[in-house]
Amino acid sequence: MKVSGSVGVPGDKSITHRVLLLAALTRGTSHIGGALTSLDARSTARVLRQLGAELSPLRPGGAVTVHGKGRFRRPRGPLFCGNSGTTTRLLLGLLSAHRFSATLTGDRSLRSRPMRRVTVPLASMGARFTERNGDGLPLTVRGDRLRPLSYQMPVSSAQIKSAILLAGMAGEVDVTLREPHGRSRDHTERLLRSFGYGVAEKDGWIHFTPGGRLEPFDIQVPGDPSSAAFLVGAATLAEAGELRIAGVGVNPTRTGFLDVLGRMGASIRVENHSDRFGEPVGDLIVRPAPLRGTEVTAGEIPGLIDEIPLLAVLASRAAGPTTFRQVGELRVKESDRLGLIAENLRAVGADAAVVGDDLVVEGNGREPRGKVRTAADHRLAMAFAVLGTVPGARIRIDDMACAAVSFPGFPETLRGIGARGRR
Ligand code: S3P
Repeated sequence: MKVSGSVGVPGDKSITHRVLLLAALTRGTSHIGGALTSLDARSTARVLRQLGAELSPLRPGGAVTVHGKGRFRRPRGPLFCGNSGTTTRLLLGLLSAHRFSATLTGDRSLRSRPMRRVTVPLASMGARFTERNGDGLPLTVRGDRLRPLSYQMPVSSAQIKSAILLAGMAGEVDVTLREPHGRSRDHTERLLRSFGYGVAEKDGWIHFTPGGRLEPFDIQVPGDPSSAAFLVGAATLAEAGELRIAGVGVNPTRTGFLDVLGRMGASIRVENHSDRFGEPVGDLIVRPAPLRGTEVTAGEIPGLIDEIPLLAVLASRAAGPTTFRQVGELRVKESDRLGLIAENLRAVGADAAVVGDDLVVEGNGREPRGKVRTAADHRLAMAFAVLGTVPGARIRIDDMACAAVSFPGFPETLRGIGARGRR
């Protein structure tokens, strides 16, 4: 298989959620170019409309216009967040400072994901929560006047961190936070700084101070490095050619997968550096390369959390074992990703095991063949589709449509670069 060409990837999911949320809270009109238009982004747009903001339809290639009213208004019905944990958790932070009740719910996967990790700190700031389903959704939040918070987070998570920072912003109170192992993505911190809020980092603590002001803005969202990772993977596994992925976000809190792939022997260069609204952007140029196993440390995990399915699949094509340390967080993603990565790798003939909270994958050179069960998890579907492009592979994926949660048109993009799977 030979890869070629220059492609773009859909807008960054994390940044799209955040800028839509912030634009909806400004008073005035913002323009968001390059926004992700996937199912998850639509979930955020839908609930923001219920909260009183006006948003133009999310169409691929078009800019989204957001007309915010300065505050959210009480929604009439439950806020359905679809499959999106980011929508839910960040919104819980913002709603904690709004004095009305709102009920959040989602699809089956989202309803079973843990929410106390955000409601516990938000409750100590003064918000009230009524659980209907233990730790999961549906959940009712009633916001109030908030108190400052100093909090040691139990897990490194950008969603927990952002929920608390956004509560601090909307409630105009100081917040001090610490993540236990490694730094999660810092898009919220960068955006808050760009609006004049104080976000300082010292000795592992993040100090937020109010004083900024949200103003309408225009932004061009960078391509999503987590989506680009699948194309990087396909190009690395190819037999020949070169692929350019243009305009990808290369924020260092998101590019841990590039460091790991570098250690594994991959050939990836970053060119055309620029800056968009405080976010570094570049083109990724990838050539095929043989891979060797590596150890991914616990401290690296937050910086590549969404790329583990892809890295695990690549590890199954590498010489020697690859160990991912302390990846228990993967059990509470869109699926039990940890269990399903190992189960599916074994199902297609690779060697993979979960040992405590570690994942160990070893390449054995066999042609990957078998059936993959995704549990509707977009990143599992895309990772195994990449594995399906290696010569001799025959992989059947039970649900490829779920890729549209974060990467609309993924199968077509993969074919477009020359990477074709046989099923
Ligand atoms: C995200 C944070 C990560 C990531 C998710 C998006 C975000 O979740 O897995 O896809 O936009 O803040 P956690 O914060 O739970 O690790």
